Amino acid sequence: MPTPLVPPDQPPGISPLPAAEVRRRFLAFFAARGHTVVPSASLVPAGDQTLLFTNSGMVQFKEVFTGAEKRSYTRAVDVQRCLRVAGKHNDFEEVGRSPRHHTFFEMMGNWSFGDYFKREAIHWAWEFLTVEMGIPGERLAATTYTDDEVAWAIWRDEIGLPPERMARWGNVEAGDDKNFWRMAEAGPCGPCSEIHYDRGAHLSEGPECVPDHSETCPRWTEIWNLVFMEFDQLPDGPRVALPFSSVDTGLGLERLATVLQGVLSNYDTDLFTPIHATLRRLLGHDPEVFEAERFSYQVIADHSRAMTFLIADGVLPANEGRGYVLRRIIRRAVRHGRLLGRREPFLVETAATVIEVMGEAYPLLRDERERILAAIAREEVQFARTLDAGTAQLEEALIPLTDAERVVGRRPEDVAPDAPVLAGAFAFRLHDTYGFPIDLTIELAAEHGVRVDRAGFEVALGEQRERSRGGRKAELARHAQLTAQYDEILRRAGATTFVGYESTSAECRVLAILRDGTAYDELTGSGEAEVILDRTPFYAEGGGQVGDTGELREAGGGSPLLAVEETFRPAGTLVVHRGRLHGRLRVGETVSAEVDPGRRARTMRNHTGTHLLHRALRNVAGSGARQAGSLGSPDYQIGRAH
Ligand code: ALA
Repeated sequence: MPTPLVPPDQPPGISPLPAAEVRRRFLAFFAARGHTVVPSASLVPAGDQTLLFTNSGMVQFKEVFTGAEKRSYTRAVDVQRCLRVAGKHNDFEEVGRSPRHHTFFEMMGNWSFGDYFKREAIHWAWEFLTVEMGIPGERLAATTYTDDEVAWAIWRDEIGLPPERMARWGNVEAGDDKNFWRMAEAGPCGPCSEIHYDRGAHLSEGPECVPDHSETCPRWTEIWNLVFMEFDQLPDGPRVALPFSSVDTGLGLERLATVLQGVLSNYDTDLFTPIHATLRRLLGHDPEVFEAERFSYQVIADHSRAMTFLIADGVLPANEGRGYVLRRIIRRAVRHGRLLGRREPFLVETAATVIEVMGEAYPLLRDERERILAAIAREEVQFARTLDAGTAQLEEALIPLTDAERVVGRRPEDVAPDAPVLAGAFAFRLHDTYGFPIDLTIELAAEHGVRVDRAGFEVALGEQRERSRGGRKAELARHAQLTAQYDEILRRAGATTFVGYESTSAECRVLAILRDGTAYDELTGSGEAEVILDRTPFYAEGGGQVGDTGELREAGGGSPLLAVEETFRPAGTLVVHRGRLHGRLRVGETVSAEVDPGRRARTMRNHTGTHLLHRALRNVAGSGARQAGSLGSPDYQIGRAH
């Protein structure tokens, strides 16, 4: 459960800075020391198959460490948005329960690519914390990797840390990889040195406060990790030396804000309090109720940030891949709203607050505001329809199993191994009929002191996949037929010329109109339609980014004809605009194609996005076949394209 708020013993001299100012000062400090300020990369790693999400600052620099990619600088500084919900770094379960773990968080980092090494990294970190942030040196402690004599000597002899505030951790060969950082099972890695903040001895009671449990002890917080990149861990192979030594550091913004603002929980910093305030206002809760309900408040605040940024980065709720992670995050937040007694939608409001708090640092959020809020509203309403019925079914099944007291927030791993077990087939029914992600069922069951037969759930899921294979064959046949149709249009009419570099609107001729795989010369009324034009300013989905949205209007910018919700490339250079029709659309007529300018502005500003766009356009022929296979299922298509 969240740590109770005991006021820390705040030393004088510390600057009580807002998080936005901490970001600015960090960038300025390292820029003044020759570092190039690099923007945060997307949460969706560009072209990295080994990772679902950007889980640390180094993801965008991975190939720079190996020497495969060269940049124009050898020192960089950034504030990277990160998500830890899958793979090697996964804090999903901790969220709400821990005062300092998140799915989404910001990592400030300074980087050397074959430039400086341990000495400068340690000295600058120390100077930033003690001089720039005003943290008294005697509140800081450092750890090094067990046999890193160089880093140890710098801390002891140059910084002057006393031995009682130093520790050596880790032994990779013996399976203890503390203080040995890796982004994933394979890739660049190396020993690291952590800096911990001491909130005061009055918080050190309890068994969790032995030195190497600083993750759970309220006295100690790890704030900064300095990684000395020296090795490349080959997949299924040995660890080899990198061509040059580098530095990767990660300073948690939320944790540093906690130290500076004199609070014990990241959730009490100015990054989170406005989100709680929005929710409290909606619920009419006073501060006492908030304290009593911290678990749900913290889950909602954390997840509101994660969902807002994920959607901004082009992920949409789906039944697999990245989209499924987003779906789990939204659904867990909806359920915690119910726990707080909220029946009406609320996530649009908390997400809007996230955009207010973070919009200046991440203008992308402002540009994508409408799309983010619409996607959240859709998913929230959809799940709200089945949540109550599913919960009622689950409780009906759980209650006869147990007479244990219900404890909201009980960890699944704290349920006794011999506790009653909910059948896997039942958990599957909740998943299949009511859209309950399995981890939600496990969380709910744990509240009642019941375990879930997860293996049984997986068996039932596998059986369903088997059954639907026949159905999928029919779907693929339909896709093949559609692809043939697109190929035919391509042969007849030629490629769609992309004119979106020059402008976000253009007059274009309608080459084909399709609905449910049938081509029409003319379509009238409302309903879905797919439209192919001779030229288009719409950028089609690809390379991990969503396609443009906007409008097709009567020539010269008249009445709307098609609200374009999706743009994709099913075959070769053919671009399809899919959306809702209003009015009459005819093959051969000229229409005004108008891209949503907010979205486009972001693409133009976002270097990564532009880079991806160029690459996606170059790869056009290669991506045709793959995308054709996913036609008709926008969620699936988006999942695949990532
Ligand atoms: N990559 C290092 C970390 O995430 C800095 O801790």
